[in-house]
Amino acid sequence: MKIEELINKAKEAQKLSYSPYSKFPVGAAILMKDGEVVLGANIENASYPLSICAERSALFSSHLKGYKKEDMVAFALYGNTDNYISPCGACRQVISELYPSDAPIYLANKEGKYIITTIKELLPLAFSDGDLNS
Ligand code: THU
Repeated sequence: MKIEELINKAKEAQKLSYSPYSKFPVGAAILMKDGEVVLGANIENASYPLSICAERSALFSSHLKGYKKEDMVAFALYGNTDNYISPCGACRQVISELYPSDAPIYLANKEGKYIITTIKELLPLAFSDGDLNS
């Protein structure tokens, strides 16, 4: 699948966002090795801190569909931003747990222009399972 197609999927996912409070819809799409694309969107709550970001909803949905880190090949994020959208700190921690450290993450802006990064780059020195045993 072309990068542009995956970004379009993230744009479609954005339509599923429930963001009446921030009015800032975000969409995510994760491409799997088997060709499936799992979508995510931010879903907010009147009790604001209970809201969930697009990145985490996509990763949790992937997990519930039976996909593991090793199955994932690309991650696209789309927002109505001038600049490239960037995952929040909480999502970076969850991405580092559930998404491969070297796999591409495409951060797109409202025009569909993107930069490519990795979670290793977005969250260096991440806290991980290994730290629990030291
Ligand atoms: N949000 C995401 O879903 N992903 C991001 O990368 C940045 C922020 C959501 C959280 C909240 O629902 C809204 O955008 C405004 O912060």
